[in-house]
Amino acid sequence: MKTEIGVDKTSEPTTEREDVSSRVDLAVALGEVSMANPVMPASGCFGPELAHLLPLEQLGAVVTKTVFAVERAGNPAHRLTETAFGMLNSVGIPSPGSERFRNGLLRQYQAGSGNVVVSVGGLFTQEYYTIAEDLADEDIAALEVNVSCPNLEHGGLAIGTSPQGVADVVQGIRGITDLPLFVKLTPTVSSIGEIAKAAEDAGATAVTVSNSFSGLAVNIYDRASALGSGAGGYTGPAVKPLALKLVHDAAQAVDIPVIGCGGISTAEDVIEFLIAGATAVQIGTATFTRPTAMSEIIADLEPLCHRLNVSKISELIGTLDTPTPSRNLS
Ligand SMILES: Cc1cc2nc3c(=O)[nH]c(=O)nc-3n(C[C@H](O)[C@H](O)[C@H](O)COP(=O)(O)O)c2cc1C
Repeated sequence: MKTEIGVDKTSEPTTEREDVSSRVDLAVALGEVSMANPVMPASGCFGPELAHLLPLEQLGAVVTKTVFAVERAGNPAHRLTETAFGMLNSVGIPSPGSERFRNGLLRQYQAGSGNVVVSVGGLFTQEYYTIAEDLADEDIAALEVNVSCPNLEHGGLAIGTSPQGVADVVQGIRGITDLPLFVKLTPTVSSIGEIAKAAEDAGATAVTVSNSFSGLAVNIYDRASALGSGAGGYTGPAVKPLALKLVHDAAQAVDIPVIGCGGISTAEDVIEFLIAGATAVQIGTATFTRPTAMSEIIADLEPLCHRLNVSKISELIGTLDTPTPSRNLS
C-alpha cells in the first residue's frame, strides 16, 4: 500500500548537518536481520582496514568481499580504471579460501560489528554448497550469495542469468543452513523480476539488486582493453538510475525485502532507493572516492527524514507514486 509522504517543498536542502530534536527511527529489518539503519557496504568495497575511518558498529551491517571455498588469485593488472562517471574494475575476486577466511578476516569483522554478512561465491554450483557448509556454524548474521560469478558448468555465463541456476544454488544452500540468505543478482538479465522470484521461491530472505554492470574501456594507443583481464564491472554514479529501475522491478515481483545497490553516494540517493522499493542499501564505489561516505550518509539520514516528515525511515519503503515505470516504451 502506498502512503502519503508530506514533503515540505519550502524547506531548502542544507549542506550543514542539522541538530535534530526528535529522533527519527532509522531501523529496518531484512527478515530476521534487524539493522539500526539501512546502510551497509557493498561486497568488495570496504573492510576492517578502514575501521579507523568508520567504526563498523555505526553500520546497519557489514558485508565481506565474496569468499570462495578454495584459495584463488585475482585477475591480472590493471584491475581498476576510472571512467567519466564511474569506475571499471576486474579485480576477479581473489579469495583466501574458507579456512584462512574463517581464522583471519572473519574474526576481524566479528570484532567490530553486530551484523556480519558473508558474501559467498562459486564457479560451480557445488562450490556454493561447500562454502555454505564451511560457514554454517559461524556466528554471522546472513550469507549473501553472489550469483554473478561466472558458472564454468555453463560456458562461463553468470549463474544468476538463469532462474533455474539461481534456484539450484539457493535451494541447495537452504538445505545446508538456516542462516538468512541475501541473493545478490546480476543486472545483466532481461527480467530481474523473474530471477528475483526464482530466488524467493527457492528460500531467499532478501535479494540484493544489483551487482556491477559489464563494461569496457579501450586504450586507443595500443588498441587494447584498459583492464588486464579484458572487460570489467562498471559501478558508481552513472549506474544509479539503472539500479533504481531494477530495484523497482524486483520489488514489484517479490514479497521478500530488496537491498538496493548501485551508484549510491548521498543520503538523498538512499531515500530514492527506499522509495523505489528497497528496504536497505549497499554502498560501493562512493567509499573509494570518499572513505567516510557511509558515515556521512548515516549522519544525514535523520535530518533528511525530518525534512520529508517521516518519523520512521521504513515508512518510505516502496512508496513510489507513479504508474509502473516499466510501461515506458520510449
Ligand atoms: C573494486 C570492487 C570490488 C568488488 N568486489 C565484489 C565482490 O567481491 N562481490 C560482489 O558481490 N560484488 C563486488 N563488487 C560489486 C559491488 O559490491 C557493487 O555491487 C557495485 O560496486 C555497485 O555498487 P556501487 O555503484 O555503489 O559501487 C565490487 C565492486 C568493486 C568496485
